[in-house]
Amino acid sequence: HARHDLAGRRIVVTAGGTREPLDPVRFIGNRSTGRQGVELARAAARRGAEVTLIAANLEVPADGLRVQHVSTTAELQEAALLSAQTADVVIMAAAVADYRPDSVADEKIKKDVQGDELALRLVRNPDILHELSAARRAGQVVVGFAAETERDPERQLELGRAKIARKGCDFLVLNRVGWSEGFGTATNAVTVLAASGDIVAEASGSKASVADRILDVLA
Ligand code: C5P
Repeated sequence: HARHDLAGRRIVVTAGGTREPLDPVRFIGNRSTGRQGVELARAAARRGAEVTLIAANLEVPADGLRVQHVSTTAELQEAALLSAQTADVVIMAAAVADYRPDSVADEKIKKDVQGDELALRLVRNPDILHELSAARRAGQVVVGFAAETERDPERQLELGRAKIARKGCDFLVLNRVGWSEGFGTATNAVTVLAASGDIVAEASGSKASVADRILDVLA
């Protein structure tokens, strides 16, 4: 592939899925393994970029990469906002929890205390991608991901266009997820939207090849 076309660029990639603790031993999480984000980080590094991977609970190896480990959305937010200050490109591939428990129990939640039902109250998490987009410097590029379970391609595009407008990022990578698609699979199929809502790339195949196509757009 086009060698070193990202030489000297500082690229931050977030990957994986955030976990929100309920008590010292339990969390609310999602099924993101971090695979597409790790492939993006690897591809960017191969192409000469100086890459920082902010990793939330990866289920794939990230050997050879500079990794900063986080777990909760608050930790990912702090790490991403800090690294973004010196980054040329920020790619938010992580699946960030939209909600977290409004309080975290100090001790294990006990069924003999709770009885037959346990109600959880969740509160909204900050939207990190929105914050990064609002704070971006001239020339900095911010990329978001959208994982949708919507099957109809036209409807998915509409959701993507609404999302990129709402988030304020430069590019949005749309991919379908479901019980057996997207999360954890070896392959992916994505559509990349620009801020205008125009489709600027479509790619399918291995997550490594999809990563390179996304980076082609950014390069
Ligand atoms: O709104 P939605 O979760 O579909 O948006 C997905 C995109 O927004 C991803 O790039 C994800 O990393 C980012 N996101 C975020 N903060 C949140 C929720 C999502 O940065 N609280």
